[in-house]
Amino acid sequence: MDLGLNGRVALVAGGSSGLGLAAAMELAREGAHVAIGARDPGRLAEAGRRLKEVARGHVHTTVVDITDEAAARRWVGDVAADLGALHVVLVNGGGPPIGTASRFEPSEYRQAVDRVLLPAVTLALAALPHLRAARWGRLLFVTSETASVPVAQLALSGVTRAAVVRFAQSLATEVGRDGITVNVLAPAATRTPMVERAAAKLAGDGGDPEAELRAMGRHNALGRIATPEEFAAVAAFLAGERASFVTGVIHLIDGGASVTGAEPDHLTSATKDTYT
Ligand SMILES: NC(=O)c1ccc[n+]([C@@H]2O[C@H](COP(=O)([O-])OP(=O)(O)OC[C@H]3O[C@@H](n4cnc5c(N)ncnc54)[C@H](OP(=O)(O)O)[C@@H]3O)[C@@H](O)[C@H]2O)c1
Repeated sequence: MDLGLNGRVALVAGGSSGLGLAAAMELAREGAHVAIGARDPGRLAEAGRRLKEVARGHVHTTVVDITDEAAARRWVGDVAADLGALHVVLVNGGGPPIGTASRFEPSEYRQAVDRVLLPAVTLALAALPHLRAARWGRLLFVTSETASVPVAQLALSGVTRAAVVRFAQSLATEVGRDGITVNVLAPAATRTPMVERAAAKLAGDGGDPEAELRAMGRHNALGRIATPEEFAAVAAFLAGERASFVTGVIHLIDGGASVTGAEPDHLTSATKDTYT
């Protein structure tokens, strides 16, 4: 299936690892010119090398911290100038720490907003003039399943991802007539370097990280966690021409976790007649 991305210019924030790199690879394979940005120069260079192996278009790499508003804006402008246009922007980056609502100080809420919401706003606003000039655009925000489903232990993620959703939805109504769609990607546990590191920490010395990774997916309908490529396939479709009538939507990529529901003991052990 041709996604209609040949020759498009795509900018992928947080594109040197995990979900962002997988999406960048998929866009590059589809013939898009791809610009990735991240902070660590070594990892960025390695990601650039991998992209060049599959790309038909240009590959552009920039060391950038997207929480630095001026640097993020400059990056967007440079990519549009160097590659001649901008059509697809995938906003991705770091996530906030884990914990329930009362475990964080107000300053930690502020840091989470700075890390998650404000880069999304900055990159989108910087990109808009370029997307409008092209009369065609795709804005994609990588969030988390917490954008759609409350997870008590992920309070900061939920607060900031929900804010990104409302930003994206408001923007979608504003820019639709300019040929621009805006969508939110809401992944659940996916086997990225970040999740592999978490599994190793959970397993501890002598433990089995693979067992931890299996446990992370046990509750969803498919019984396993995702691969980055499964996430990237959805991202690339939404970035392409064929998703032209899809906007303002949260796209869960969660293996059906949102529909399996909780299975508390009193329901698991109940029979058809228990509650009649
Ligand atoms: N993997 C999952 O299971 C999962 C599930 C739900 C949500 N998410 C969310 O999806 C996002 C990506 O996760 P991942 O698993 O792909 O993580 P990852 O493998 O650690 O990749 C994160 C990428 O973002 C970049 N990045 C982080 N902070 C940045 C900043 N301030 N400026 C520029 N680039 C930055 C990183 O590069 P540098 O560190 O070099 O900057 C890296 O390229 C995170 O927000 C995560 O919370 C992930």
